[in-house]
Amino acid sequence: MRQFIKAIFSGISSLLIIATLITAPASLLADSKTATATPLQVLSSPTCGCCSKWVEHLQSNGFDARIEHPADLNHEKAARGIKPQYQSCHTGVSQEGFVFEGHIPARVIKRFLAEKPDNAIGLAAPGMPMGSPGMEMGDNFSPYDVLVLKDDGSSSVYTHIGAAAEQY
Ligand code: CU
Ligand code: CU
Repeated sequence: MRQFIKAIFSGISSLLIIATLITAPASLLADSKTATATPLQVLSSPTCGCCSKWVEHLQSNGFDARIEHPADLNHEKAARGIKPQYQSCHTGVSQEGFVFEGHIPARVIKRFLAEKPDNAIGLAAPGMPMGSPGMEMGDNFSPYDVLVLKDDGSSSVYTHIGAAAEQY
């Protein structure tokens, strides 16, 4: 009887070893692909050049950004609570549903996602600030504010970007 139980146990443990060997390489592969990249859906118009440049900025700064071209971009913005005065060309949407409107630097988005401020729906850099990520024009730079958008429709300054170097 003891021999029989022993045999069953050794059978089970060798199965476990085989199972670990089979699944380990697959999970290692998945880990290396998704190690630090934060998924971000980017809603934009197909004709927007600065949108793709902003996406490139995100991709080289730790985001797995994927562009989508909705039929009615204005509707998408309104449905997510982004009022006209906060709008820009594109809208980033995180997995949690936070919105990132306009040419916001990747590091500011990362700070927001780490902090998740109370009552916030996301961030906005209204308009097209000259020299912001995706809006580079040589050495030209206009200082701008990144606003935090609240769920009651109000906003406040999240951070002021006073110089191009503060964005990276
Ligand atoms: Cu733009
Ligand atoms: Cu854009």
